[in-house]
Amino acid sequence: TFVVTEACIQCKYTDCVTVCPMDCFLEGPNFLVINPDECIDCSICVPECPVGAIVADTDLAPAQMHFLELNRDLSRNRQWTRISHAKAPLPEHEKWAGVTDKLGLLQR
Ligand code: SF4
Ligand code: F3S
Repeated sequence: TFVVTEACIQCKYTDCVTVCPMDCFLEGPNFLVINPDECIDCSICVPECPVGAIVADTDLAPAQMHFLELNRDLSRNRQWTRISHAKAPLPEHEKWAGVTDKLGLLQR
């Protein structure tokens, strides 16, 4: 499966969702996740993300490993809804795009 990682937090550009043939993205307040049970590993979403947030589970950096479970957990969160059409990125996306260590800001 492919995994949405930390770079997405507080940016949420949503370019990724428009290309997914499985519509397997789910949206929360300031992050998206991929439902790992639905992703078919086509990889076409990867180059769409302006901040490189989408990574194959097999290529996750050690510090981002836990995002696999996080994507799975949040896919099952009933507050998170399917998203398949792009929308405007979050208002302060430019400010947050280069910031690492944003996990503490994740809103569920
Ligand atoms: Fe969707 Fe393909 Fe990306 Fe998986 S790899 S989330 S199926 S676009
Ligand atoms: Fe997030 Fe990148 Fe998609 S910032 S919403 S994974 S385009």
